[in-house]
Amino acid sequence: MLPAKQSVADFWEREACGERYGAQQDEVRYQLEPEILRVAQFDTGGGQQVLEIGVGMGADLVRWARAGGNVTGVDLTSRAVELSRQRLEAEGLHGAVLRADAEHLPFVSGAFDVVWSWGVLHHTPDSDRALIEAARVVKPGGRFAVMVYHRRSWLAAAAWVRWGLLRGKPCTSLNDAVGHVESPGTRAYIQRELELLLRPHLQQLRVRPVLTHWDRRVAPGLARCTGNRFGWFLVVEGVKR
Ligand SMILES: C[S@@+](CC[C@H](N)C(=O)[O-])C[C@H]1O[C@@H](n2cnc3c(N)ncnc32)[C@H](O)[C@@H]1O
Repeated sequence: MLPAKQSVADFWEREACGERYGAQQDEVRYQLEPEILRVAQFDTGGGQQVLEIGVGMGADLVRWARAGGNVTGVDLTSRAVELSRQRLEAEGLHGAVLRADAEHLPFVSGAFDVVWSWGVLHHTPDSDRALIEAARVVKPGGRFAVMVYHRRSWLAAAAWVRWGLLRGKPCTSLNDAVGHVESPGTRAYIQRELELLLRPHLQQLRVRPVLTHWDRRVAPGLARCTGNRFGWFLVVEGVKR
């Protein structure tokens, strides 16, 4: 593994996303990020081949499986793979969970009806490649639903204050500042970049920002005034051409 990717893997091997919430992880997750339920529409997964890229603790994978989806989950870390397998087993659900790299998915093109990935693809060093890989494995007419971070957001501005301004480096770019958020080298996009990248692969492409709990925390009054426009999440939805 290249050093940059190894450092991402090392970060998430130490603690999977949401693990700090222990037994409350599931409850806290959908309370803090209610958009997940609205975007995923887990109950539409019945009988579908569903791939989740970057399963983390497996909360969403379990929801797809409960809905009757034929689920496959991948993650860069063995911790996430293990936790997700345990979670499926605990509910008597079936699914394949494997360690794999989002930049090089081990699946043929067009293998899945639904490709779902929430808060993952901006963490890998070549995020553009991972986004295109995710689109590659969707069947023609199948559904692509992904969330990545948004550079023009209150949270990105707060990262710039913390990692640029307060360190006496006001010339730090928003790109460099968000590189410090969570695992090393995190990327954040603007809408136009995603549209240019994905339009050749997806139709009915919709890229929209969503204001998050984290934006409200770092810019309480301002975030309320600007609505979703400067939200930290960019939700990308489309149908495979
Ligand atoms: C912020 S967590 C999100 C996990 C889960 N989707 C969630 O919403 O809780 C990011 C996850 O992406 C995984 N990840 C990062 N780079 C990856 C890559 N190149 N391939 C597969 N998984 C990756 C990490 O191991 C980690 O589990």
